[in-house]
Amino acid sequence: MNITTEQLTKVHPGGLCALDAVDLHIESGTVGLLGANGAGKTTLLRILTGVLRPTSGRVHVAGHDLSTSSGLAAVKRTLGYLPQELSLYPDLTAREFLDYIGVLKGIHDRRERRRQVDERITEVGLSDRAGERLAGFSGGMKRRVGIAQALMGAPTVLIVDEPTTGLDPHERMRFRTLLAGLGRGRTVLLSTHILDDVAQTCPDVAVLASGRLVFHDSTTALVSRAAGCTYVHRPTGHAEGPPPGAEVVSAVTTSTGTEYRIVTTSPPAGARPVEPSLDDGYAALLGADVRTHSTSIPTVR
Ligand SMILES: Nc1ncnc2c1ncn2[C@@H]1O[C@H](COP(=O)(O)OP(=O)(O)OP(=O)(O)O)[C@@H](O)[C@H]1O
Ligand SMILES: [Mg+2]
Repeated sequence: MNITTEQLTKVHPGGLCALDAVDLHIESGTVGLLGANGAGKTTLLRILTGVLRPTSGRVHVAGHDLSTSSGLAAVKRTLGYLPQELSLYPDLTAREFLDYIGVLKGIHDRRERRRQVDERITEVGLSDRAGERLAGFSGGMKRRVGIAQALMGAPTVLIVDEPTTGLDPHERMRFRTLLAGLGRGRTVLLSTHILDDVAQTCPDVAVLASGRLVFHDSTTALVSRAAGCTYVHRPTGHAEGPPPGAEVVSAVTTSTGTEYRIVTTSPPAGARPVEPSLDDGYAALLGADVRTHSTSIPTVR
């Protein structure tokens, strides 16, 4: 297993329990990490990278035990991490910044560092801007530098926290293609709010809700959560608004009324069944989780 947590718990200063006995086992490939704002995603990723210490529980990354100082040092050297808020040094050029990261990762041979910097710059498509100062880079270019720095040192485990937030649609598509290629031969854990990114780049998905791991299975298994209970419904007559009790996935209003996409086990008369998407599966999972306040874990492998 490349990432393993056992009963991982984090209580932040102030008493908030951000992670509650999380057992997560990831072998390889790209895994999407989903969850609402404050669900505990960044807390989990920061613990996996060794930036944050857990309150209790065990964590192994790439075979290293993070409770030991040697394991912690090894993980920091070998793992790639793109944090949610990455600080770049605005006065450095992209090439200088990556070289500096190479030094921090322990690549002491100057020629080897240069080789890796060149490779990473080409990989993320920044060859023609590598000599420019980071201060002049757009948000999308900064994210690409962020991925390039995470890839220095050829990490077998890559942790990426909300890499596409704030990118324009075209840049997001480019970034998604880049991310999809990164899962080959390594483990990538990708936290995001954008379900499309997961649908298109992650064969597997894990979901956190209020610090608990409530799902870890294939992305298609999450879609299946909404199979047979996804509908499109347009209220008629005096009925207004979505049917009570249904999870509303989307609402489209036109001059003739509002059409709701809903996930429900008791559809209103006239609702049209449709094939579920990942949005619907996610709504079904979290809707059920909220309704039952379940402390058991329905689908975790
Ligand atoms: N350093 C901290 N001190 C105290 N509480 C914290 C700290 N960091 C996070 N928290 C709390 O822990 C919970 C989980 O936060 P976390 O940042 O892990 O969530 P997240 O899933 O990454 O959210 P988002 O989607 O908004 O990035 C939140 O309630 C947050 O307020
Ligand atoms: Mg976060």
